[in-house]
Amino acid sequence: MRDLQVIRPGGRLRGEIQVPGDKSISHRAVMLGALGKGETVVRGLLRGEDNLATLEAFRGMGVEVLDEPGDVLRIRGRGLNGLQEPQDVIDCGNSGTTMRLMTGLLAGQRFFSVLTGDRFLRKRPMKRVVVPLTGMGARILGRAGGEFAPLALKGSPLTGITHQSAVASAQVKSALMLAGLYADGPTTIREPHVSRDHSERMLRWFGADVRPFDGGVTLYPGRALQGREVTVPGDISSAAFFMVAALIVPGSELIIRQVGVNPTRSGIIDILRAMGGQIELLDQRECSGEPVADILVRASDLKGVEIGGALVPRAIDEFPVISVAACFAEGRTVIRDARELRVKETDRIASMCSQLEALGAQVEARDDGMVIDGGSELGAAQVSALGDHRIGMSMAVAALRARGSVTISETACTATSFPGFWELFDASREV
Ligand code: S3P
Repeated sequence: MRDLQVIRPGGRLRGEIQVPGDKSISHRAVMLGALGKGETVVRGLLRGEDNLATLEAFRGMGVEVLDEPGDVLRIRGRGLNGLQEPQDVIDCGNSGTTMRLMTGLLAGQRFFSVLTGDRFLRKRPMKRVVVPLTGMGARILGRAGGEFAPLALKGSPLTGITHQSAVASAQVKSALMLAGLYADGPTTIREPHVSRDHSERMLRWFGADVRPFDGGVTLYPGRALQGREVTVPGDISSAAFFMVAALIVPGSELIIRQVGVNPTRSGIIDILRAMGGQIELLDQRECSGEPVADILVRASDLKGVEIGGALVPRAIDEFPVISVAACFAEGRTVIRDARELRVKETDRIASMCSQLEALGAQVEARDDGMVIDGGSELGAAQVSALGDHRIGMSMAVAALRARGSVTISETACTATSFPGFWELFDASREV
């Protein structure tokens, strides 16, 4: 994989594309497939590095996974108590979802396991799952008192708890629900705003008793999970790069087929529409318990907006590319209540500010967000993905409206969530 990309400005986006499968749904399909009874068949699984880390983790615990032609993955589930003790450390790579969800899932097993990750993941906060899991009876050790990986887990009996999460985080919620499958009573998680609900939907798809309520969710243990067929929709977080690209390059009109539009993930559509973006959802349908649509995007004049509150978790991974859209909007965009961005793959407030500034944009970092004044001319420059997949792809989109070619370094990381991004980015443009 080349680690440097040179993007020439311009090139309308026309026609139809399909983006790879949803990263969050792919993780959950593999996890629940492994814990299900019987076979799970997954179509359209994302083969990004993050998801491959999850697959390898289960292979290492004795789960048979067969790759078949036609993008079919067959998982021979071992049931809730059928996993084997892994013989080696589980490497979660760059994937926060793998590490946090696996911490919950492994806490109630009858064996010992160790989770680690790359240099970025080993800096990300883990106490948000370690503390409540410990409250359920889990035995987990980690660096800095359990804040940082490697994490060592000695499986133990668990009790159901009620946990009030300080942040709206699907990773925290999902870790506790997965642990809750092994608890002696119900597990309830409350969160300040609703985070993505893919775990709830897929747990229910596999037969678990999950009951959402206003402000949280309760999982009742006791039911076995049954292997199912899962079709993974395209990832709206990957589609987002093409949505913004088509909005900002004049003359563009693009259809992105088969994208997941779950309301807990579709904040990007609401935000871009509020900015004046012409976006239509075509042929809305449901697929394995998840809403799906084709997304039609037409080039539009954008204006600045204010973004905060409940909208933030519904678009949490899209702020890098939203800040790019804001650079080409008339007026000021203010992003607030988004402190979580500081603990993503990189500190995304600092990363986007430094790289957009290098291009000549008017941006100011705030503790919990950013202020972007649109309308500055972006120049030819050398920028970096900083090892963060979504920063790299956002810089590629920004480059489409720069005055000259933009060179982006450290771009191999885009394979984390979007293998084939650069090829699709080239193929979807008329240059
Ligand atoms: C994810 C949840 C989000 C998101 C991440 C994937 C998931 O993290 O940023 O890319 O699959 O549950 P948080 O739940 O920590 O906000």
